[in-house]
Amino acid sequence: PEIGCLSIIVLGASGDLAKKKTFPALFNLYRQGFLQPSEVYIFGYARTKISDDELRNRIRGYLIPTKGASSEQSESVSKFLQLIKYVCGSYDGEEGFQLLDKEISEHEISRNSVEGSSRRLFYLALPPSVYPPVCKMIKHCCMNKSDLGGWTRIVVEKPFGKDLDSSEKLSTQIGELFEEPQIYRIDHYLGKELVQNLLVLRFANRFFLPLWNRDNIDNVQIVFREDFGTDGRGGYFDEYGIIRDIIQNHLMQVLCLVAMEKPVSLKPEHIRDEKVKVLQSVLPIEDKEVVLGQYEGYTDDPTVPDHSNTPTFATVVLRIHNERWEGVPFILKAGKALNSRKAEIRVQFKDVPGDIFKCKKQGRNEFVIRLQPLEAMYMKLTVKQPGLEMSTVQSELDLSYGQRYQGITIPEAYERLILDTIRGDQQHFVRRDELKAAWEIFTPLLHRIDNGEMKPIPYKPGSRGPAEADELLEKSGYVQTRGYIWIPPTL
Ligand code: BG6
Repeated sequence: PEIGCLSIIVLGASGDLAKKKTFPALFNLYRQGFLQPSEVYIFGYARTKISDDELRNRIRGYLIPTKGASSEQSESVSKFLQLIKYVCGSYDGEEGFQLLDKEISEHEISRNSVEGSSRRLFYLALPPSVYPPVCKMIKHCCMNKSDLGGWTRIVVEKPFGKDLDSSEKLSTQIGELFEEPQIYRIDHYLGKELVQNLLVLRFANRFFLPLWNRDNIDNVQIVFREDFGTDGRGGYFDEYGIIRDIIQNHLMQVLCLVAMEKPVSLKPEHIRDEKVKVLQSVLPIEDKEVVLGQYEGYTDDPTVPDHSNTPTFATVVLRIHNERWEGVPFILKAGKALNSRKAEIRVQFKDVPGDIFKCKKQGRNEFVIRLQPLEAMYMKLTVKQPGLEMSTVQSELDLSYGQRYQGITIPEAYERLILDTIRGDQQHFVRRDELKAAWEIFTPLLHRIDNGEMKPIPYKPGSRGPAEADELLEKSGYVQTRGYIWIPPTL
């Protein structure tokens, strides 16, 4: 492991993302001993003129419950907050960044013994419009000191542009300043426990190997549902819409892991090579395989234009043109203000050939991976109804994490991903060519929506979304099981 000084610089320190995700993740890493006070220092950088203590106070409430925290918890929060220093400056002027460099260097000098190194992690919790100037300033003023060794890495978050062109432009601007191994594009879905489990599941189990193809699988659904609307983020959301916010990134990353071929090894580049291949095999999306929705009341948000054409719901069918998947629809569905909150992958198998039990009526085999909430995998299958009669019934083999792994806390996506950036492991980050390939798939559709050529169908908040989406699902071959519902086991 690398030794020496580690400086984590959170740019946009007073913003929403930093407060809600970045600092809490850093705190959790600290609490678990992954960030050692003898090595680590954290810098917050933003334009607002505030003191170190003001920043600390703003963050504190996001780290532990304000009420009912134990004194031990409060003490570790206080110790953690002491590791944070605030530097104020603009995002495009050298002055602030020179000051930042001075602060980081002082810390490095004070912490390092003779053989120390200079490791600098810049976390851009910022809107992408300022990525280019910020990257330039980091490059000019704040790189790690080469005489000490170490590295400089930058972490960026979506939205990476709005379409293929703008994203490529952004990639080029950043690419002129930093090498790909220095750039960590976060897609926090790649940090979720069950997303990380996908490769193990598929390639370490004999069960799945022979079944995972067009001969056995009828259709695959990747679903994201939220039971709340844009929740004060209407202004941001309206610029992007559900396809850019969820489908083009989070659900596509999941699709890649579900559909890709076995990588040569677990090396990050081998895995990412396979993901790119799947993306490149996706056929152009057909209008008739898209349903868009917008929940009623969405435009009541004062930051959303009255006649917004932005979808808050979308079902899109993707077709992968390769030997494994030809003919199998991958149905991606995402929506806000629906009747439940969950994210899951649902693999539906074909009917049993030569069926003697009338299985068809009862429902097909399904393998469901519930990403959240209540992480679980379950296999829906037909069994004999226990008892004297020879009748069949739907049941399940259930691996519910809460029950099977009691006492194990599943880490937050951001915690893992930040740890990976410190360790230099890019497996769970999006490579530039992956990003490009994902934009290529969705850009024509997004342009048609932006031009008003495709319109979202209104749906009631708290509903399943537009009925047309269920019709599309059925047309694509999905058969809903009636009268069976998986109930997560209670502890
Ligand atoms: C973010 C989106 O990337 O993911 C949000 O911008 C969405 O709109 C969020 O609510 C969902 O993340 P999670 O981890 O709660 O499923």
